[in-house]
Amino acid sequence: MATLTILPSGKTIDVGEGTTILAALLSAGEPIPHKCDGNAKCGSCHIYVQEGRKGVSKIAREENERLDSIVGVGSKSRLACQAKVLGTENIKVELLGFGSGL
Ligand code: FES
Repeated sequence: MATLTILPSGKTIDVGEGTTILAALLSAGEPIPHKCDGNAKCGSCHIYVQEGRKGVSKIAREENERLDSIVGVGSKSRLACQAKVLGTENIKVELLGFGSGL
């Protein structure tokens, strides 16, 4: 279990190990786009992990390739549908409020 803090709303929720950040955000009622339903194909679920990056699963090849094609990607970027909560560290994510333009 880890606590997920969501910016900009400031909401905090408890998330179980193995849950994707996308699933956690949706269950919290956050307006996160997910056009490809979590298949690392659309990039619309792009978020920034502001804190607790070690508490999230590593970036796999598919996610990396998709991130490479998105505008505005930085070192904190993740696809919410691919990043799983490990439960080892609390996490703070920032919703970007815009799609990737794909
Ligand atoms: S929902 Fe499409 S890449 Fe995450």
